[in-house]
Order: sequence, then structure tokens, then C-alpha cells
Amino acid sequence: MSFRHLIDFGDLSRQEWEELYARCAKIMDDPDAYMEGCRGRVQANLFYEPSTRTNFSFQTAMLRLGGKVFGFADPKSSSTAKGESLKDTIKMVSAYADVIVMRSPKEGAAKAASIYSETPVINAGDGGHMHPTQTLADLTTIQRYRGSIDDLNIGLCGDLKNGRTVHSLIKALAKFDNIRFYLIAPRELAVPEYMRAFMRERGMKFVEVTGLEPVIPMLDVLYMTRIQQERFSSPWEYEQVRGIYVLTRKKLERAKPDMMVLHPLPRVDEISVDVDDDPRAYYFEQARCGMYIRMALLMDLANQPHRIPGPVEIGATPRCSNPNCITQSEKYLPPLTKLVGGVECCAYCDKEL
Ligand code: CP
Repeated sequence: MSFRHLIDFGDLSRQEWEELYARCAKIMDDPDAYMEGCRGRVQANLFYEPSTRTNFSFQTAMLRLGGKVFGFADPKSSSTAKGESLKDTIKMVSAYADVIVMRSPKEGAAKAASIYSETPVINAGDGGHMHPTQTLADLTTIQRYRGSIDDLNIGLCGDLKNGRTVHSLIKALAKFDNIRFYLIAPRELAVPEYMRAFMRERGMKFVEVTGLEPVIPMLDVLYMTRIQQERFSSPWEYEQVRGIYVLTRKKLERAKPDMMVLHPLPRVDEISVDVDDDPRAYYFEQARCGMYIRMALLMDLANQPHRIPGPVEIGATPRCSNPNCITQSEKYLPPLTKLVGGVECCAYCDKEL
């Protein structure tokens, strides 16, 4: 693999995805053959935000490969609570561990960590921005149970503004052929402009609609998402959209008999419990696939040699105005930018500058 950190799905080529999936499929078929895959390796799980699937599946992935895990699930138990910077935390932890798995409420936090880390950093979710290993779980499920990711009509439904899994999945599907997106969201929770710019730049086909039921019959995959209550600025705003989409067994009557229902989980009320036993419900299997594809990823990244990063420019004032961007709190970060659709954007959170 050519990538050292996994921050954004754009870090992987299609060929790298295919190699990763091929290893994952072998692990799924014979997990005992990989019990030594990370023997002697140590993984640090730094979770600044709650998690069930990502934290535990990364832990079990490393344990099943014969490695060890340490870390925290509550930053109050680390020196972050005393005011330690992200840079200092990462410099220390990357000296102790062979790979860092990091989740943060701040957009661009994993990218920032990768600048100072001597070991690979894996983005386990950064605010409402990206969640590339969830995308690995999503693609693994589609590939294994549909047989192909190409030629896909996919509906993304729910909170497309704050749903980081959606943003990562759109980026990943840019690498596949003949994908058509149905982006199903209320106007206030539509995809961010930087994602539209990304899709337009690549000539990707997408339509934005507000209703789920009219488009269900067209879909090969329906990807439901939770309304991300924790990312709203007020309880009142959340109440306006709470429960706006609920997939029920009744609604599935109009879907194709082989449509796959995916959800990154956790769910709140957007998929009714009566859907769970429908053969089209793949979301629990999707979470299981997530552990195996993370095993495949760790075999690459945790086995890389440590590499001390070179010095970087010290920032002064953040150029990015996104209040949730990591550059707002870690002001020493170098002021990195990139072009998306010809527009200059923050290289940490992707927002237009
Ligand atoms: N899908 C996912 O990221 O779940 P957790 O928040 O439980 O890790």
C-alpha cells in the first residue's frame, strides 16, 4: 500500500481498495490463519468521542491479530483534561504505539495528528467530516453480498450535512463506475457544498430529493443515517427534523427484492425494529464486516516502521472560519490549503476558505 495514514478515503486508490478487500475476504474465510498478523504490535485507541462499533471493532481486530491495545474512551482520563495540546499527545503516544486510531469531535483532527506522528494514524471519525474506516465496512458489505460495487443506484438518507459516513462513502464511490446517488434529506440537512463541488468536479451523477418513498423502487442500496443530534447548535433545531425519515417494513414493500438496507449505526428511530428480520437488512452484518476489514488494514499500517516526522511551519491565526475545525483550537497547526473543484479549501476540514 502506498498510503501511510488513513485520513480520508481519497488516500486509497481503487487498486489498493481491491487488495485490501481481497485480504479481508481471506481473513473472513479463515480468521485463525491471521492470529499472528500483528504479533508484537501495539495499537493506541484515542477516542475523544463516544463509540461502540469503531472503538471495539478496532480493539478486537488488533487482539485477533495477536497484537495489544491501550488508550482511552474518555479524554477526561488523559492529560488533554490538563490542557495538553494534540501535538504533544500525539508525539508521546506515537512513541509508545505502532498505530494510532483516533476519533475526535473536531474536523480535521486526524489530519492534524498525522503531521506529528511517527506511526500511522487512522481517522476513526472527525466531527461531521469523514469516517473512512466506516466506508471500508460499507464497501466490504456491498462487495461481499452484492458481488460488485459498480453500476449502483444508492440512496443516502437522513442527516447528509453532519453525517461523516456519508461524506466518506461519496468520496469512495468516486472510484467506482456508473454510480448514481439519490441524496435524500431535508434542505437544512443537505450535503455540504464542498461535497457537491467534489461530485461535480468528478462528473458524478446525483439528485437531491426530500422524500424517501418516491425513490425507494429505484435503489440497489439504501443507506440510512441517524440525525446527528450532538452536532446541532440548539435542541430546537434538532426537534424540527427529529424522526423525519423512518424506514418501516411497509415502506420496504415498494423496494427491489434484493435492495440492501445499510446503516453505519447507531440507529435511533430511523429504521423500525420490524425491518431487522427482513433479508434485505444488512446493517448488523455491516458492523461485523467492519472488524474484518479493519484487521486487513491493521496488517498493513501497524507493521510499518516508525518514522520521525520533519519540522513543519508554525501557524499563527487560523485561516479557516469553520468553528469546528481543528485549527480553531490547535492554533500552531500549519495553515494548509487544497483545491476542491478549483476552490481553495482548508486542508483539514475541507471547508471553503
Ligand atoms: N458506525 C460507527 O462509527 O459507530 P460508533 O459510533 O458506535 O463507533
